[in-house]
Amino acid sequence: MNILILGSGGREHALAWAVKQNPKCDRLICAPGNAGMDAIAECASIDIENGGAVVEFAQENSVDFVIVGPEAPLANGVADRLREAGIKVFGPSAAAARLEASKSFTKEICDASGAPTAGYGHFTDADAAKAHIRANGAPIVVKADGLAAGKGVIVAMTEAEALDAIDDMFGGAFGGAGAEVVIEEFMEGEEASYFVLCDGKTALPIGTAQDHKRVGEGDTGPNTGGMGAYSPAPVLTDEIAQKAMDEIVNPTVAEMAKRGTPYQGVLYVGLMIKDGQPRLVEYNVRFGDPECQVLMMRLGAQALDLLLACAEERLDEAQVNWADDHAITVVYAAKGYPGAYEKGTVIGGLDSTQEDSKNMVFHAGTKAVDGKITATGGRVLNVTARGNTLAEAQERAYAMVDGINWPDGFYRKDIGWRAL
Ligand code: AMP
Ligand code: GLY
Repeated sequence: MNILILGSGGREHALAWAVKQNPKCDRLICAPGNAGMDAIAECASIDIENGGAVVEFAQENSVDFVIVGPEAPLANGVADRLREAGIKVFGPSAAAARLEASKSFTKEICDASGAPTAGYGHFTDADAAKAHIRANGAPIVVKADGLAAGKGVIVAMTEAEALDAIDDMFGGAFGGAGAEVVIEEFMEGEEASYFVLCDGKTALPIGTAQDHKRVGEGDTGPNTGGMGAYSPAPVLTDEIAQKAMDEIVNPTVAEMAKRGTPYQGVLYVGLMIKDGQPRLVEYNVRFGDPECQVLMMRLGAQALDLLLACAEERLDEAQVNWADDHAITVVYAAKGYPGAYEKGTVIGGLDSTQEDSKNMVFHAGTKAVDGKITATGGRVLNVTARGNTLAEAQERAYAMVDGINWPDGFYRKDIGWRAL
């Protein structure tokens, strides 16, 4: 079959890498793609947030299956347009993508389905929001309701910080995303992510992961989109994972179906775990980046069969064949990230890295210029490895990192420390 993957990051390179290994995949196109994807697939330049443009491209190129990587096209209804045109698609409708696109919607679904999550208030007025903060005190969490590229959450350790966040949000710091805010109880515990495929009726877990959000070693410094990740997450034991399915995921899937907006795609379930009890922090309606890289490294070619079963509403007959293995990914970022950084710097040594079913350098922000790989973003490479133990995977990943020559980049040397 002909497959189109939408996106340009490490997540999409990892999806392309896994899909490509499956004999069902004939032609593979990535849009817009990056230098890593260009090496294993065709890259096409289309506006991936424009459903009409995606449908037209898919029809012209006899695409049988579209896999949507990021959330923005989903929130924009790209999956709806594809389904209307009779093209198979992996990813939820715009109505179901509200589970990521609106934090207050997710809270409403939790209320309706009884899913455990932080207590909250929802405000469209700054004075009322401030009164709520003063009444509850710090620590407290202030969230812009809409999509804010991962930046709309302020975990305020003091009341003053929380009040400032309200001024910023209603002042337009997050554009339309901050016109409404959700203020949440601060939850303590350990965070982990659970990835579950849903076809509208059936939910099938495909793996657990943990990421490192802070830029610095020892989980210090500013927040980032993620400096590394590993799978599985030891804190998500079988028992806690089952609780998360019974108390959070399955009730959500049932509630979405009941409302006539069934959830189809991957549900990224962000959990806070304390004393053996998981609570929902957030949903995302796409794979995590870089969590997807470790999941794909572990799933390999079967990923395509699973994503197809999801799109064809056959998850009740699908099963995941798990190896008892571990994967880790180390993010190689441009110096300065998450602040200002230089673009266009040249990365050397990639030709000589050994890439196989256990070792892969996924590209997150790269472009080939005159035959050289250059950096185009903040998070640039995801150096990913698999092993029988997490320690073995970690050793492999850092051995690959050592072979890369990029003076303008940096990485954390302690990815995986919490689990080791
Ligand atoms: P979100 O985008 O909702 O996942 O928030 C980003 C990060 O903020 C999460 O991964 C948590 O580390 C933190 N966070 C969000 N909500 C809470 C909460 N209610 N209590 C504690 N930490 C939170
Ligand atoms: N790694 C966090 C995310 O993808 O949202």
